[in-house]
Amino acid sequence: MGELKMPIELRTLAEHVGAEVLGIDLSKTLEPRQAEELNDAFNTHGVLLFRKQSLTPEQHIGFSRNFGSLEVHVLRQYLLTNHPEILVISNVLEDGKQIGINDAGQYWHTDLSYKEVPSKGSVLYAKRIPFSGNDKTYGDTCYVSTAAAYDALLPNEQAQLAGLKAMHRYEARYERLRQQNESRQQLTEKQKQEVPPVVHPVIRTHPYTGRRCLYVNEGFTTGIAGMSLEDSNRLLQKLFNHCTQEKFMYRHKWQVGDVLMWDNCSTQHFAIADYGIDQPRLMHRTTITGTAVQ
Ligand SMILES: [Fe+2]
Repeated sequence: MGELKMPIELRTLAEHVGAEVLGIDLSKTLEPRQAEELNDAFNTHGVLLFRKQSLTPEQHIGFSRNFGSLEVHVLRQYLLTNHPEILVISNVLEDGKQIGINDAGQYWHTDLSYKEVPSKGSVLYAKRIPFSGNDKTYGDTCYVSTAAAYDALLPNEQAQLAGLKAMHRYEARYERLRQQNESRQQLTEKQKQEVPPVVHPVIRTHPYTGRRCLYVNEGFTTGIAGMSLEDSNRLLQKLFNHCTQEKFMYRHKWQVGDVLMWDNCSTQHFAIADYGIDQPRLMHRTTITGTAVQ
């Protein structure tokens, strides 16, 4: 009979979202039972934190594959050389060129909600974190639970949202960012074809826990089907404000070596841009493929 391993040890980070996983070295291959327990913890807590990790790109990719197959991001120019599964998020310049996306996620969103089959989750590894002389760090990321946000709606509000569908458009967000950031080049026709507008239910059922989640986000949701623009904008703004309240939130203060993975159904996130170009930030992200929205 094989040796029975201790169950993984968790420390809760906030009331509705987030747990730190203690005592795991992600550079090592996980035991099948460990992977299963981590998957359960991920589905339950929405955000998992692993501190003091040191990962090669292969190890980062290998760990992420415990949870599903991996996406290749539409912005191919920011993929890690020889490792297209890794998206580079960074304000670092090399030979005068951006090595990664320098303004990623500075608005509330879930990754890849603009795809027909959105992402299950993302795994972000912190390689360099902005800091100042007194060791203060910058560039925190905030997470909210969209499941807790749904639960907090009144029954009549939940009933009003049942059956509604919303449009998600990557190109709309990209164009807004491009107006503020000259390093963002125009999307090519091929890239546009890769991310056509999609429609998803406003209320989504989590594929593993069965919890209902509010699935509209400021980043990519552009309208509610069958509503006037005015009514749609009003309802969306109300839902965005509701979801992103502090009571549903965990704010993560990054350390170099952190690996944070989050659920792209039951959470939304926002990257705080409170640092300058003289404060380097370098993160590697993998993105796990999800299942069709229901
Ligand atoms: Fe993101």
